[in-house]
Amino acid sequence: MTAMATWLTNTWYVAAWDAEVFSTPLARTICGIPMMVYRKLDGTVVAMRDACPHRLLPLSMGLREGDSIRCKYHGLKLGPDGVAEEMPLTGEAPNRGICVETYAVHERHRMVWVWVGDKAAANPDLIPDLWPCSSEGWTFDGGYYHVECDYLLMIDNLMDLTHETYVHAGSIGQPEILEAPLECRTEGERVYLSRWMPGIDAPPFWRSALGREGLVDRWQICEFLLPSVVMIDVGVAQTGAGATIDSHDQGVRGMVVDCMTPESEGTHHYFWGMARNFRTDDPGFTARFKAQQGGVFAEDKALLEAQQKSIAANPDLKLAGYSIDQGGVRARQMIARAIRARLPDRQEQTA
Ligand code: FES
Ligand SMILES: [Fe+2]
Repeated sequence: MTAMATWLTNTWYVAAWDAEVFSTPLARTICGIPMMVYRKLDGTVVAMRDACPHRLLPLSMGLREGDSIRCKYHGLKLGPDGVAEEMPLTGEAPNRGICVETYAVHERHRMVWVWVGDKAAANPDLIPDLWPCSSEGWTFDGGYYHVECDYLLMIDNLMDLTHETYVHAGSIGQPEILEAPLECRTEGERVYLSRWMPGIDAPPFWRSALGREGLVDRWQICEFLLPSVVMIDVGVAQTGAGATIDSHDQGVRGMVVDCMTPESEGTHHYFWGMARNFRTDDPGFTARFKAQQGGVFAEDKALLEAQQKSIAANPDLKLAGYSIDQGGVRARQMIARAIRARLPDRQEQTA
């Protein structure tokens, strides 16, 4: 019996930022499938298996001709639908039976999403609702890291901000994070982990975002969405302004948006960013913030890659779960349940 995959299929995953995809193919392995994405002349995106049907050379090495791609090895030309248009020998009629798999692809929330699974079931309505990334009054930008660890470790990390105090001591960490009580709840296909820190000194970033001195109420609400997205509602409001954990539109608010796309069992693609509803018309702030956030997430990347190596080096030991881990534990349980529920042979298994 083969081990059950640790990721969900028949779902949308982020393949790339919209700004990463040009007419030249971009190769990216998604859930163990080598894919490539490129833009057609009309700007729409094509996602295709990154292997020539002839001798399996990566098609991403090929040459674009109009909306088609010509393999770099023997010149087989494939259309954006994946079907052969020209054979290596010019006198040979194209065999329409020669084709490469293409994938359902959709752009939303500044991301290019690909459907991993049964193409007929691909429905854009199922794309995770990253509402702050495309809402009026908000602005959004971010970056990409390739991370050498299981995507589940990144979900654990993002659903437990206790680590900020130690891993990000120089920027967003503060000791009050360790004092605030945690509230964890599950709603449908979402897990929430909330922290409310009333009447504290704002850390430097938030003090300057708020633009005033004085005590603040600070919140952090981590939200996990299937298949592997974490959005973290973060911000501060002046103490006494009436902000609560449930109603916190006062002050300054940001939404850290993290999309983890499995690449292999031990690596993933990490798309990170922040949407915010303050200084939205200040591109310089956006660029500076992106650079700063990239530095913070580079600290997580280094730590998680070391954790992954340590897990591999200690196969006789198991990860322990403390109270701080409840958000990650519930997210993992939700993924595992969804994988079991969507297995095609579920009927026989439960019979
Ligand atoms: S490997 Fe692509 S044409 Fe031969
Ligand atoms: Fe972190």
